[in-house]
Parts: sequence; structure tokens; C-alpha cells
Amino acid sequence: MLRTHTCGELTKDHAGQDVSVCGWVDSYRDHGGLVFIDLRDRYGLIQIVFDPNECPDAHKVAGTLRSEDVIRVDGHVKLRGEGLVNPNIATGEIEIRTHVLTVLNKSKTPPFEPTGENMPNEELRLKYRYVDLRRPQLQEAMILRHKLCKATRDYFDQNGFLEVETPMLGKSTPEGARDYLVPSRVHPGSFYALPQSPQLYKQLLMVGGLDRYFQIARCFRDEDLRADRQPEFTQIDVEMSFVEQEDILTTIDGLIGHLVREIRGEEIQLPLPRLTYADAMERFGSDKPDMRFGMELIDCGEIAAACGFGVFSKTIENGGRVRGINAKGAAEKYSRKMIDELTAWVGDYGAKGLAFFRVKEGKLDSPIAKFFSDEHQQAIIDKLGGENGDLLFFVADKGSVTSAALGALRNRLAKELKLYDPRTLNVLWVVEFPLYSWSEEDNRWQAEHHPFCYPNAADLDKFDTDPGSMRAQSYDLVCNGYEAASGSVRVHDPAVQQKIFDFIGIKEEEAEERFGFLLNALRYGAPPHAGIALGLDRWVMMFLANDNIRDVIAFPKTQKAADQMTEAPSRVDTHQLRDLHIKTDLPTEA
Ligand code: AMO
Ligand code: AMP
Repeated sequence: MLRTHTCGELTKDHAGQDVSVCGWVDSYRDHGGLVFIDLRDRYGLIQIVFDPNECPDAHKVAGTLRSEDVIRVDGHVKLRGEGLVNPNIATGEIEIRTHVLTVLNKSKTPPFEPTGENMPNEELRLKYRYVDLRRPQLQEAMILRHKLCKATRDYFDQNGFLEVETPMLGKSTPEGARDYLVPSRVHPGSFYALPQSPQLYKQLLMVGGLDRYFQIARCFRDEDLRADRQPEFTQIDVEMSFVEQEDILTTIDGLIGHLVREIRGEEIQLPLPRLTYADAMERFGSDKPDMRFGMELIDCGEIAAACGFGVFSKTIENGGRVRGINAKGAAEKYSRKMIDELTAWVGDYGAKGLAFFRVKEGKLDSPIAKFFSDEHQQAIIDKLGGENGDLLFFVADKGSVTSAALGALRNRLAKELKLYDPRTLNVLWVVEFPLYSWSEEDNRWQAEHHPFCYPNAADLDKFDTDPGSMRAQSYDLVCNGYEAASGSVRVHDPAVQQKIFDFIGIKEEEAEERFGFLLNALRYGAPPHAGIALGLDRWVMMFLANDNIRDVIAFPKTQKAADQMTEAPSRVDTHQLRDLHIKTDLPTEA
């Protein structure tokens, strides 16, 4: 060992001891004679003192040290003098008086200081990720991620689950996103697909008798990236045999309780609350409602139909809806200009307008208030529980647009109005999802989650009569407005599975070609089974109250799915392509 202690572990109890510490030069101060360095490792910071009278050689070298140089210091721990204690760092009561300084490695001037005040732009941070990873926040994220994985493994182990690895090189599964393909050298023209999730393998494990499976599994999806999506991410993947929906919900309730206890040292109320998809959409306009705050969507159809404001009444006449939300006490916090900006913003969710009213002296105050009689104004105020100082917003449109626009507006207003403590974890189940939705684009029914979800027993006969109303035995776990997990009871009956493929337009030959192995397996004694997958990266984000998924992954990709540091993806040699039987017709380099 090059060190006797880490920088962060020393306390005043070590005063008087000889120690050796190693780390990075975090900051440097020359106080006319004495040189002070804050030395950093992942455990913390410690102040090192170089006194020309105590260590003339080391002091001379200390004068040449720069940020991020890697050094070792042999010295003794000393209590800091009266008035010199730094309460901002854990080791603030002590310092190390140097005997010997060893420079283990010099650093070029770093592109940014990982603990500096100003956060550099993300592109630079990702290019020099190894410097950025020294940032205490990123180290905290990696440590939390480790703890989450450890606690997850402990929980499943204690409950009799087995961790089984499934292949990375597999066959494409219909998870909805585009596959990352890997060309085969041995089979010219054929490709493996990296798994979008271990969905089919885990079902096959159930057929294989390996009840109670879990895996911390890497998944790959070539899809449009967002702040909560990476092309390569990790799931806590689970599957159980001889169970029903209720058993999965209870098992995962237990997992969440365990994780919150292990990581936060807090108890979360179990069982987690449940909301149906229909209620979530009606009350919050979203299938992943953030329930850290209220501000529910209120239907004002009746008032809208009767009022004299054409935009509202015509929408109702045409079969649309008028719904509103009440931003309590926000009347003076949003200027006209800010509301114009919100109006443009909800346009991204399809809303053609955003009506607003301030509640003032018991009446509605707005450029459109004149279209509403006193009676209708009062009805609106009553319906939304309006009080003086409230700001009411309305969207008139197709039902789905009112949900999307007001659901998004509700989240944005709550964030801006600071209606919740970002550290709160609000977790709930959303259940009874619709099984199929009609795709206008493809002119066919498509599976809402994936085609292996079992329909609700009561809905099994609706394939031919009313498929849109069929509910799935599927469930999502929602935390703070994120979809944090998703799962379902699976189809174990090959006839039902075939029927579903038919129904969503996967022809028999295609089904055999793509999923023949699954259909076959179902014919060889498949037990009833069900499962779920949690988005591990998202859980780390939520535990840290961070809203950028890149901050919880050691080496994340950019929005364009590139690695800034290694510059992947990159061109490869022609001979590699030849081996893989691949011809590209990319333009040759200039
Ligand atoms: P699903 O596709 O809903 O279900 O994924 C499960 C959970 O994984 C997380 N997640 C992601 N996290 C980061 N980046 C992404 N690109 C990304 N995509 C998904 C979400 C999501 O809830 N096989 C099924 C699960 C099952 O039925 O058992 C599946 O993969 O938190
Ligand atoms: P317009 O008649 O289009 O000029 O709209 C007049 C006002 O009606 C706008 O300033 C908005 O406040 C409101 N408005 C228009 N369209 C909608 C809509 N689809 N939903 C809610 N309010 C709307």
C-alpha cells in the first residue's frame, strides 16, 4: 500500500500520528512561506501543509505542484490552530504537516477543475470523463449505484431468486425500438441483435424451470434519446413462475421498501398506492403522474358547453373536452409574457391555445373573461376551487390533447412554483393499462407494452368485438413522474400467443420465423408466469434527485448516442468489414 489512510478518513483522533496519504492536488495556496494544498481522493479532502523550516526539500517541490497532479505525502497529523478550523470539510479540524513529498504523476493542465465553482459544458465533461468522474457528485452517484445493485442482489437472494445471465448476442425482440445489430463473420449476411431487454430469455428460463429469476441486465435500444433515456441502460429484470399480478406487485413493494431503507435509512409506506391507468389519465393527464403535488386536471365540459365563449362551446359540440388546472397562489408569479411563453410551450403537446384566468376579488380576470357571465365565472371558480390569487389554465381540444398539454403544464408549473421537495420519493403503481392501441400511421392495432402481455381474464373475448377496451394484466411503477418499472403477466398459452400475433398483424410465417422458438417453448409445458423490469439508471437518478441520466452512468453517451471520449462509433478498417462481409458506400474521406 502506498498509503496508511485515505484523505477522507482522518479525524482529530489521529492527531500526533505519522501517516501517508495519496491523492490529487485539488487546490493550491502559497501563504508567503507556507504552502497549503487540499489533497483529494474519493473519500474526501485533507489540508496538507509544507513548511520550509520543517521540510525544505518537499516545500521546494510543493511550489511546482499544479491542479490534478498525483502525489503522496508522508507527514504527521496536527490539530489546526485556534480559529483555523474549516467547518465546511469533514477533516476541517486537522491538517498534515509534511515530512516527505513524492510526486507520483504530473497532470497536464486539466480542461476544467472537477471541483471548481463553474460547471464546464457537458461536451467537455464527457470528453474528459476521467477528470469529470473525480467530481464528488459523480463519485456519489457511482457509490449510490453500487449500493443500489448490492441491496437489490441481497433482497432477491434473501427471497430465493437466482441471478442468471442471458446472452448479449441474440435475436431481435419486438420491444418497440430499433435494434443494435452485430454482423456475423461466420454466417455471411446474418446479424445478431443486442438485447433490448432479456424479455424472451427470461420467459424461456421460466419454461426451463428456473423460477424466481432476476438479473441486473444491460439493454440496448436505438431510439431517440432524452434526459431520462440512454441507448445502453440497465434494468433490474425479474420473472416468476406460478404467480399472478398481485405476487409481482407484492414482491416489488418489498424491493422498494428494502432499497429505501438500505439507501435512505427511511421507511416507505407499503403497500405502494395503486391507480388505474384510466384514473391516472383523467386526474393527471399522464400514465406516469407525479403525485408529489396536487393540481389535478378538472373537467369543465358542462360549463364550457353552456358558456358564451366560442372556443370552449364549439370544442364540446365537436366532441372534444375542456379541462383546467388551478395553480394555487400563482396569479402574480406569471406575467402576461410568461403566460405567452407557456402557451407556445403547450403547443408542443398539440394544444392550439391556453386560456387563463387570474382569480381576483372573487371574479375571473383575463382578456377572455368578458365572454363569461358572472354565473359562469362563479361556476368555474367553484369547479376549480379557486381563491383570490390563484391562476387557472384551460385547454380545449381532443381529450388526448388536453391530457398531454395539461399533464405537462402541471409538471412544469409545480417545478417552477417549487411545490415539492425534490428529494421526496413518491412511488405508486399504475395498473390496468389498455392492451392495444390503434396506430393511425400503420393502420393496425399494436401492443401498448409488448405482445407477450396477458389480457385481463374478463376481456379475453373482446378481440373481435372491442379490442380497444381490452385491459392488460400489466403494471408500471411510477416514481416522481418517471416510468420507473414496467411489467406484465405473460401469455403462457401458445394458442393465445398466436392469436395476439395474428391480431397485431404479425403473420403466422413471420411469427414462426421471428418467435418460433418462443411459440415452440410454450408448447412444451410453459408454466403461468409474470415479471417486471425496473430502470436502474432512473432509480439512481430519483434517489439523487438528479434529472440527468448521464450523471448516473460512468461512461454515458451523448444525445446523439456517441461516446465523446473514445469517439465511438467510429470507422473500422476495410479488412474488418471484408471479414464481416459488409460493404459500406459511405462517402470516402476528403
Ligand atoms: P420497458 O421497455 O418498459 O419494459 O423497460 C423497463 C424499464 O426500463 C427503463 N428504461 C430505460 N431507462 C433508460 N434508458 C432507456 N432507453 C430506457 N428504456 C426503458 C424504464 C422502464 O420502465 N421487458 C420489459 C419488462 C417486462 O415486461 O418485464 C421491458 O423492457 O424505467
Ligand atoms: P382566438 O379566438 O384563437 O384568438 O383565441 C382567443 C383566446 O382563446 C386565446 O387567447 C386563448 O386564451 C384562448 N384559446 C384559444 N384556443 C384555445 C384552446 N384550444 N384551448 C384553450 N384556450 C384557447
